[in-house]
Amino acid sequence: MAVVFHQIATERGCQSYLIGCSELRSAIIVDPELSMQDNYLALLNKEGLRLHYLIDTHTHADHFSASQTLSSQLKVPVIMHRSSPAPFVSFHVNDGEMIRLGNLKLEIMHTPGHTEDSICIVVNDSVLTGDTLLLGGTGRSDLPGGDPSKLYHSLFNKLLLLPPDTRVYPAHIYSDKKHSTIANELAYNRRLQITEQTGFIKQMNSLNLSMPDHLTEALRTNLSGGKTVAKMIAEAAEKVPFMSLTEVAKRVNSKSADFILLDVREVQAFLEGHIPGAINIPRGQLELKVNELLPNPMLRIVTYCEYGKISTLAAATLKELGFDRAVALDGGFNSWQGQDYPVTKPD
Ligand SMILES: [Fe+2]
Repeated sequence: MAVVFHQIATERGCQSYLIGCSELRSAIIVDPELSMQDNYLALLNKEGLRLHYLIDTHTHADHFSASQTLSSQLKVPVIMHRSSPAPFVSFHVNDGEMIRLGNLKLEIMHTPGHTEDSICIVVNDSVLTGDTLLLGGTGRSDLPGGDPSKLYHSLFNKLLLLPPDTRVYPAHIYSDKKHSTIANELAYNRRLQITEQTGFIKQMNSLNLSMPDHLTEALRTNLSGGKTVAKMIAEAAEKVPFMSLTEVAKRVNSKSADFILLDVREVQAFLEGHIPGAINIPRGQLELKVNELLPNPMLRIVTYCEYGKISTLAAATLKELGFDRAVALDGGFNSWQGQDYPVTKPD
């Protein structure tokens, strides 16, 4: 039976997998990552496959899952373990169950320890190990939901009992290797050399790892289906036009009065220096003060902030409030100053 198998890595080493049944043209994506969404869609097209399922091997604390967005875009269910709290999961699975994908069978193994909802997925002679088993390492057990004693049982009493030549494909890779085997990990994986439970737990508890980047944001969005900050800004950017620094500078110099320059930074930052002619309404007070300070909704308003992100959100908010000609500065006060454009400072 021919299997389509793609291993897709992000720059930071997160691995996702596209698996397809070449006979019935159905596919699943395991651990999709938000920044790789277009790659998956292009691959599905190239392979002539239709996506049937998305699956996350666990609640990720260090990357942003694309399951929810791909699921609503392509109308396919998200599969996770029974104990996963994410509200967008429509199909829960448990240990010993199987997912049929065309003529392929994906066997689910519940392997808690890295998180309570961790699963491994066996497909033919391969196993996708999520963060339960990594190449030369294991998933950490010190993040929310982690438990070193459960990780010990999941590894030594379950996963590592698979046939020795089973190929291992983890959710993270930190070297040039692409995969390994159970036999190879048993022989050379340093964390697996302590095979006795107390020693293994002691080892896991003394790793002293630093917290992953974006931990709170990843947990918040992956658990609840909420948006990342980057996604909120990207969505706002799709709704507003931008004006370049050069264009704004030209208009400031010619003292043209066909637009209002709106500084949405905090009052103190505005007082310390701003673009000549700008007025100030901090982003947090925008909705409350627009009626008083921007009485004409037909005016063109160019918003700016320090780096060009909050001003994009502010311009999108103004549009929603009926300021149809709201525009955001392409860049921020930081680059304005960096390019030596004029600045109004206190005397
Ligand atoms: Fe993880």
